[in-house]
Amino acid sequence: MRVGVLTGGSDCPGLNAALRAVVRKGVQEYGDEFVGFRDGWRGVLRDETVALDIPAVRGTLPRGGTILGSTRTNPLLLDDGLDRVRGTLARHRLDALIVIGGTATLGVAAQLADDHGVPLVGVPKTIDNDIPLTDYTIGFDTAVGVATETIDRLHTTAESHKRVLVVEVMGRSAGWIALHAGLAGGANCILIPERPFSVERVCGWVESRFRATYAPIVVIADSALPETGEITLHRDVTPPPGADPRARLSGVGEWLGREIERRTGKESRTTVLGHIQRGGSPSPFDRWLATRFGLHAIDAVHDGDWGVMTALQGTRIARVRLAAATSTLKTVDPALYEEASVFFG
Ligand code: F6P
Repeated sequence: MRVGVLTGGSDCPGLNAALRAVVRKGVQEYGDEFVGFRDGWRGVLRDETVALDIPAVRGTLPRGGTILGSTRTNPLLLDDGLDRVRGTLARHRLDALIVIGGTATLGVAAQLADDHGVPLVGVPKTIDNDIPLTDYTIGFDTAVGVATETIDRLHTTAESHKRVLVVEVMGRSAGWIALHAGLAGGANCILIPERPFSVERVCGWVESRFRATYAPIVVIADSALPETGEITLHRDVTPPPGADPRARLSGVGEWLGREIERRTGKESRTTVLGHIQRGGSPSPFDRWLATRFGLHAIDAVHDGDWGVMTALQGTRIARVRLAAATSTLKTVDPALYEEASVFFG
């Protein structure tokens, strides 16, 4: 078969491992030929391709980023987008497309498959781990590892200086990285977007931690918000008229650090992890997951199982409908958050 492949959305470690597995199994076991599209859906729209064969993927297993490049382009927002996608697929005589992406990229894939009959299979990736129906997405484990190592390092400097250390991690809509890294790193407080937080309660935890003679670590997702009312006097940016005054703060970690210092009198510092979580070599788990997703994606192509996404369910790789996996976001289960709260304060 002739198979097109693209990586779309925010990059993450493990994308190359997935590409390598698709190509190795496709060429070796099925005799497939591949066309790589440059920079996600943009490459399909513009018909910009990258060689994708066994030499191209050799040595890429431990390499972060994506050899194909990535953008957040959505072809369905253009009037002629669908025609251009169809045109490119026809020009290259492609029998199928493998789309590796997060909710937005895979949402486009779901529409193309279900509404327009494009033969494609999806693979879920995002450090945020917010795609439903799969236990984990490619990139999440590496990001949690980076955040955990950071928290470990911050414990020692926090204790030397008896300071509060706030760590802001990514998680655009869900607090999975904050929750997992916070638990693994022994944070004294974890703040996630699913649960608006009380600054007063956070300060209470900080003070009780100091009474126990330890310097506290506060982990906060970059989309976490304080409870209504607590932000209005202190927000960094004036909200546009009519907007929720709590609407996503830029630099919520910095804001919280200053607020803790103001209210408790304890010196605070904030570390914003940012794109460090998305860069570098994938963890062993992400290499394993991405490789298995890649192997199963090319199998799904040869089964003609269009409109599905590979998913990890326990230790099994399942196939779920792309439409179901992209219709909502997987947020942190309140019971999991309650479990973690034993360690707060
Ligand atoms: O979706 C992954 C993610 O890392 C989010 O957690 C974060 O908010 C966003 O991407 C950052 O994207 P950009 O690369 O555009 O800054």
